Amino acid sequence: MTIDNTNTNYAIELKGICKSFGTVKANDNIDLTVRFGEILALLGENGSGKTTLMNMLSGIYHPDGGSIYVDGNEVSIQSPEDAKRLGIGMVHQHFKLVDVMTAADNITLGGKGGLFVKKDRFKEIKELSEKYSFELDPEKLVMNMSVSEKQTVEILKLMYNGARILILDEPTAVLTPQETEKLFDILRNMKKEGCAIIIITHKLNEVMSISDRVTILHKGKSVQTVNTAETNPNELTELMVGHPMQLSIRRVECEKGENILHVHNLTLENSDGAEVIKKLSFDLYEGEILGVAGVAGSGQKELCEAIAGLYPIKKGAVLYRDMNIEGKTPREIIDLGISMSFIPEDRLGMGLAASLDIVDNMMLKTYRDKKGIFVDRVTAEELANKVVEELEVKTPDVHTPVRQLSGGNVQKVLLGREIAADPSVIITAYAVRGLDINSSYTIYDALNEQKERGVGVLFIGEDLDVMLELCDRIMVLCHGQCSGIVEAKETTKEYLGLLMTASVTEGENDEQ
Ligand SMILES: Nc1ncnc2c1ncn2[C@@H]1O[C@H](COP(=O)(O)OP(=O)(O)O)[C@@H](O)[C@H]1O
Ligand SMILES: [Mg+2]
Repeated sequence: MTIDNTNTNYAIELKGICKSFGTVKANDNIDLTVRFGEILALLGENGSGKTTLMNMLSGIYHPDGGSIYVDGNEVSIQSPEDAKRLGIGMVHQHFKLVDVMTAADNITLGGKGGLFVKKDRFKEIKELSEKYSFELDPEKLVMNMSVSEKQTVEILKLMYNGARILILDEPTAVLTPQETEKLFDILRNMKKEGCAIIIITHKLNEVMSISDRVTILHKGKSVQTVNTAETNPNELTELMVGHPMQLSIRRVECEKGENILHVHNLTLENSDGAEVIKKLSFDLYEGEILGVAGVAGSGQKELCEAIAGLYPIKKGAVLYRDMNIEGKTPREIIDLGISMSFIPEDRLGMGLAASLDIVDNMMLKTYRDKKGIFVDRVTAEELANKVVEELEVKTPDVHTPVRQLSGGNVQKVLLGREIAADPSVIITAYAVRGLDINSSYTIYDALNEQKERGVGVLFIGEDLDVMLELCDRIMVLCHGQCSGIVEAKETTKEYLGLLMTASVTEGENDEQ
């Protein structure tokens, strides 16, 4: 496709797009436009239909109704090949690269590159990189790359194949603030070169910084499109959620209590013998929320599992109130009062039985309650009702199989059950992953209430803005090592970003 600056056609125009999955109307009469040389943010809560809509542009799904125009012509996109031919490229949430190949080989794989000799391909990739100021070593193996580098390869691959309309689905979810800025610089260069860009995100500050216009989806409908320069985060939230919302997390000031969890010089090895946690030491106190930040895969999962007794400890120790937990079974660790809610990619993967109702799921755990252990269904039913009420779980009743609840509501049941076990330590990983804004705030409130009760909370998080508001202290992991533990009130997002890539380190953690 050639780009002509006098071209007044939209790069993409969607009119009345509809798409249903069974009885779910994922897209309901959606309109959207983006011009060449423009960045459009597509904003909407989880489940509002963003990915579905974009998948119809990339040829993965076909609309049930409506029309798609590319550069002024009505088109039918039946396959990813059709999309590619029309100059549309999409960077998905999960990359599709071949690990054992170099950047250059990945970029040229399955593309026009087959006709070129290798030297020409390198040259071409280099030119493309320089044009948009990508920083990339074409000969580096994908398996040795950071997430951010892999994303760069994905984008270059699309550009190499002639994409002029680029769609990015939540590209910043896996990036540090600095990496996000780098990506945005690349996108701004691409915009200057005349590309049309649609970026999906639910981070409002990113929308404000990168986009020219914003289209907001709400429950499968396009509610409005606004010029970024004429809006603000509050208005965007209101459009996205459907009602006004207070956007700050309540910060609870508590007296720091006793040291409840002491991790000392902990080293963990994976099955290949690689150290995934290295000489990690930290303390968690009663009545505090200690955040754990780091790019994905920095050892967060293994750390949680080790504390829960699910991962072998190679060296060092985890002490719960001076008691070494090494060698204890997960059951014994739960009985001590250490509660774990890890939200995996597949929410039903951990701890909940999909076919059972909420009451039975409550009973899957034996509760240490004041009166002793109970297993009777009446009490479990009371508990289930309490969780449903307090965490605002949207379900017809407590007898509905968990499988029939939406992801966010499953997550609330999971956390509610952990809290109901009356723990003294809560370890929660990715507690709000995939939740809508309302539900996220319900969960932050629930964690704050636990903190007020004197519970020590280890909060493994993804969103630094949230962690700065919610946590008392934040520990940053980088390649399994602690690069610093900082007071949330005294630090900045930029500084945390530097710690995440260990461009700086805080002095307090080099114990032997
Ligand atoms: N392949 C599918 N099968 C069934 N339902 C789906 C499928 N993909 C998406 N949905 C449903 O469509 C709605 C919109 O989903 P999605 O487009 O992924 O939202 P978003 O990207 O905004 O989070 C959700 O209710 C989701 O559960
Ligand atoms: Mg999505």
